[in-house]
Amino acid sequence: MTQHKLVLLLSRQEIGEVVRRLAAEIDRDYAGRELLLVVILRGAFVFAADLVREMRTPVRVDFVRISSYPTGTVTTGGPRVVTGVRREEVRGRDVLLVEDILDTGLSVDRLLKYLRRMGPASLRVCALLDKPSRRRVDVPLHYRGTTVPDRFLVGYGLDMDQRCRNLSDIYWVQES
Ligand code: IMP
Ligand code: MG
Repeated sequence: MTQHKLVLLLSRQEIGEVVRRLAAEIDRDYAGRELLLVVILRGAFVFAADLVREMRTPVRVDFVRISSYPTGTVTTGGPRVVTGVRREEVRGRDVLLVEDILDTGLSVDRLLKYLRRMGPASLRVCALLDKPSRRRVDVPLHYRGTTVPDRFLVGYGLDMDQRCRNLSDIYWVQES
């Protein structure tokens, strides 16, 4: 049986510093405006909860969810939006898409196309973690928390088969 060992990558203190820096960047850019945060379920819920509480910009919050495929399944059509937002809510608003980790980029690419059709005033992307080595499509990343190596990560919302989301720090999974 495969044993998993969790190796600390980012402590809660380090994550906190990154989140505060991102909030300050967002506040600076959106001063005097109101933002609609569109949070990608499920992983980004922890990050988003901390981010909004560090921000001073007035925010609305909504959630989207895209289909995930069982491990090992070959995806053909790419990710599909399974829980969406209402067009009237997005139209004319400054929208910030919030993701936990930008990996291949396919999810964010899909969601940007989905949201753009709803006519937002502006549309930007914020991701706590960026794994650029895995990118398959070019997506804009306006607010990047920190770059991480090509390792499988858990904690702070990130899961391994739905487990470990509740860990306060971020770990990489070492198989032994
Ligand atoms: P992608 O950018 O479309 O490939 O997908 C990004 C999604 O894959 C993220 O929202 C995460 O849910 C998940 N993901 C990517 N890398 C990791 C990881 O290292 N640990 C846990 N989930 C991950
Ligand atoms: Mg996710």
